[in-house]
Amino acid sequence: MKVLMVCLGNICRSPLAHGILEKMIIENQLDWEVDSCGTSGFHNGELPDSRSIEVADKNGIDIKGQRSRQLIAEDIDAFDLIIAMDQSNYNDIRRMAQVDQHDKIEMLLNYSFPGQNRKVPDPYYDGGFERVYDMIYDACAKLLEAHN
Ligand code: 4NP
Repeated sequence: MKVLMVCLGNICRSPLAHGILEKMIIENQLDWEVDSCGTSGFHNGELPDSRSIEVADKNGIDIKGQRSRQLIAEDIDAFDLIIAMDQSNYNDIRRMAQVDQHDKIEMLLNYSFPGQNRKVPDPYYDGGFERVYDMIYDACAKLLEAHN
């Protein structure tokens, strides 16, 4: 299974989802891959936000090796699951995808709250990185269960 975590900037939410799922993959010795990217290229080449690095670090996850990159159409071919953090990311990914690829795209929190289309709130301006971490962690555990 190849999973791509997607948010807007690829510096706050999707790097956390990437790091958390990566740790779960290793702990469960799964033959899975995970990557992350942003629908925008605003932060191309940048490290994750220092607040994401800090909350990941507190939880024993090192995301400092990640660099922001923008989603490209080829990603939608290359990955089995494209996971959006919010509705706006979801809509942008769908627009880039072929109709027969739409089933690969899902909102992360639908693994925790099926069918509710809840968003992972964007903490870039408002903070709340601890809460965002917990929400992402819970949904990643359920994603892993759902597809394992
Ligand atoms: P992310 O957060 O999508 O979770 O990485 C954001 C990061 C940067 C911006 C917006 C959201 N920005 O507008 O630069």
